Amino acid sequence: MTTDILTKIENRVLTITFNRTDKKNAITAAMYQAMADAMADANDNDDVRSILFTANGDAFTAGNDLIDFRDNPPLTEDAPVSQFLRQLVLARKPMVAAVNGIAVGVGFTMLLHCDIVYLSEAAQLSAPFVDLALVPEAASSMLLPARIGHAQAAEIFMLGKRMSAADAKASGVASDVFAADALAAAAEKAALALSKKAPASLQHTKRLMRGDKDAIAARMAEESKVFGAQLLSPELAEAVMAFMQKREPNFG
Ligand code: COA
Repeated sequence: MTTDILTKIENRVLTITFNRTDKKNAITAAMYQAMADAMADANDNDDVRSILFTANGDAFTAGNDLIDFRDNPPLTEDAPVSQFLRQLVLARKPMVAAVNGIAVGVGFTMLLHCDIVYLSEAAQLSAPFVDLALVPEAASSMLLPARIGHAQAAEIFMLGKRMSAADAKASGVASDVFAADALAAAAEKAALALSKKAPASLQHTKRLMRGDKDAIAARMAEESKVFGAQLLSPELAEAVMAFMQKREPNFG
């Protein structure tokens, strides 16, 4: 079992902590699997009333582990990353995120599935999928434009523009921004408060607010097809090689 993801259930809150600090919490297949399993269990466990995502170290997560992705491309529906993305859609319990630093790729797009998103002032969100020769995932090609508008979302996906904590709050991606040393307490307080609310009312409210799960799942499936094809492309090989060699990619 990996220790790169830590999970605990306390006071009816499931806390999932990114714990691969030396790699900026970049997410491997084992980490996706650990999160998917914990979330699937939480969905059916009456002792879990809310979920809190948090991170050790100075980053929230640098997103997919690029080397793991290149070497073991997740091409099937039961791949750990696909299981994790599915759990984001299936989640019945409210989800809180405490974003302490940089959140890249899925680290950003998973926030679109969270209900309360708290950022530290230092947090920066980015989803530079095109720079990596990839395409948006987690239904973010639908959810982000719906949240912030096409033109702003295009800057993020296509130009790789980073979103500051203040802009994330102003545009409705984040609920609130806190000083770094106040973030964890604020997020824990929110998760604990949710865990004490009337559970059926809370879950119905989340479902009503979230809209059509089938449409979200359908968009995820469509994205996954293109994402999978891009993972096998020469463009992706060049993007990952450039990352490893710490240089700009050359797409010809
Ligand atoms: N996959 C694999 N390894 C990663 C990683 C990723 N997504 N993100 C960071 N790492 C590794 C680095 O290779 C480095 O490893 P090393 O110490 O063995 O060289 C270590 O984590 C620290 O990262 P570093 O780049 O030195 O830190 P930084 O503070 O200068 O930059 C980031 C942090 C997140 C801005 C930068 O690492 C980055 O851009 N990562 C890629 C993000 C990305 O494209 N994610 C995929 C989205 S789909």
